[in-house]
Amino acid sequence: MKQRIGIHALGLAIPRRYVDMEELARARGIDPGKYIQGLGAREMAVAEPGEDTVALAAQAARRALAASGVPASKLGMLVVGTETGVDHSKPVASFVHGLLGLPQAMRVYDTQHACYGGTAGLMAAVDWIASGAADGRAALVVCSDIARYGVGTAGEPTQGAGAVAMLVTTDPAIFELDVGISGTASSHVHDFWRPLGLREAQVDGHYSVQCYLDAVSAAYRGWRTRAIQREVIRGVGMASERLARICYHVPFCKMARKAHLQVRRCDLEDAGAPWDASAEETRGVASFREQVEPSLGLCARIGNIYTGSLYLGLAGLLDAQASALAGERIGLFSYGSGCTSEFFSGVVARGAGYRIAAARFGELLAARERISVAEYERIMALPPTAPLVPRSANADDIRFVGVTDHRRQYASR
Ligand code: CAA
Repeated sequence: MKQRIGIHALGLAIPRRYVDMEELARARGIDPGKYIQGLGAREMAVAEPGEDTVALAAQAARRALAASGVPASKLGMLVVGTETGVDHSKPVASFVHGLLGLPQAMRVYDTQHACYGGTAGLMAAVDWIASGAADGRAALVVCSDIARYGVGTAGEPTQGAGAVAMLVTTDPAIFELDVGISGTASSHVHDFWRPLGLREAQVDGHYSVQCYLDAVSAAYRGWRTRAIQREVIRGVGMASERLARICYHVPFCKMARKAHLQVRRCDLEDAGAPWDASAEETRGVASFREQVEPSLGLCARIGNIYTGSLYLGLAGLLDAQASALAGERIGLFSYGSGCTSEFFSGVVARGAGYRIAAARFGELLAARERISVAEYERIMALPPTAPLVPRSANADDIRFVGVTDHRRQYASR
């Protein structure tokens, strides 16, 4: 019998502050239409130094575990996908392991390849369970990052911060993965990178968009070939339309729309149909509205969270439509600059709606404080080792409080 593997519980952690994108555009002398319609952004999370990658990861992981009902003693693996770690040697996962008091008999490590790092962790967890090495234990996969390009840069409106944690088990109450059915695509490109010692990412913005589109074409075609061979998708017409929804990596919401039109173009051209850009302005955009837009609710209000961005999209989609999507197949595309990528899929579990509602994403957003552009700029100028004492709205708060003898310290309550 086929083994079921997938996401049993989800946890989300976001900074307590955000800026409004219309206000940010006006402060930069830019027409707000560029940020709101042009990029698809409404609000952007602002992390203060106390809300570092470890603090966000630990908080999301704690929430996922609490929501799962699975005791920590049942964990055998903890992987953190991140590209904004806090130490050259000690992984974020090691801090999370300690902060949550997890068992000693575990694999604990970080995975890195830009925004693909979280998917690398998820795939490692799935392979670990499928191989039998898990021996009935669960894996905790956390994606945590702070996206930072700098004040006044073209990338500024595409920043953000947050963490998504996923408990991966053989009893997936939220999302069951199509194990072994995926398409991958990688190339050595300099579209986005962050040299050692720099806090801000270097990016060739428009080229990075093209690299993403090239990757989604190749990865999607790989997934489609396997999905058809193994009869995961059946029927006639465009293969992408056999998926009820598709979640893409979301560096900014408009990118998901570009990616979706590209996937449709692959389907149309591979079927020998000529590419008709003006017809796709109607059909493609209608398909985007139905298949993709419902996944962008959280992304538009938090911004890019790098490794967690795809899973923030999935969380937002399920928060909005889980009950209606029970039993339906969803496509997922993960992109990490540099670059590597993977298109894969899975099926929404019955009862996922109840699970997601219990995660209370809406309450997390509502508890945030809107700050002025001047306050955001003040926070951006702070050195990374200068934590503020935040006004906390959450009882399960974890935060970075300083460095003693080269050791990072965290307060948890
Ligand atoms: N009203 C409505 N729309 C407007 C407008 C207005 N007044 N003014 C401009 N626009 C539209 C433009 O037409 C454009 O839309 P299209 O792309 O559909 O043509 C959109 O707003 C953006 O305008 P520009 O292309 O002129 O914006 P820009 O040159 O300032 O930069 C960017 C955009 C390249 C995305 C930049 O923000 C950036 O470098 N971001 C970081 C890199 C990034 O996110 N890359 C994505 C792929 S890489 C990846 O996915 C990995 C990752 O996470 C980083």
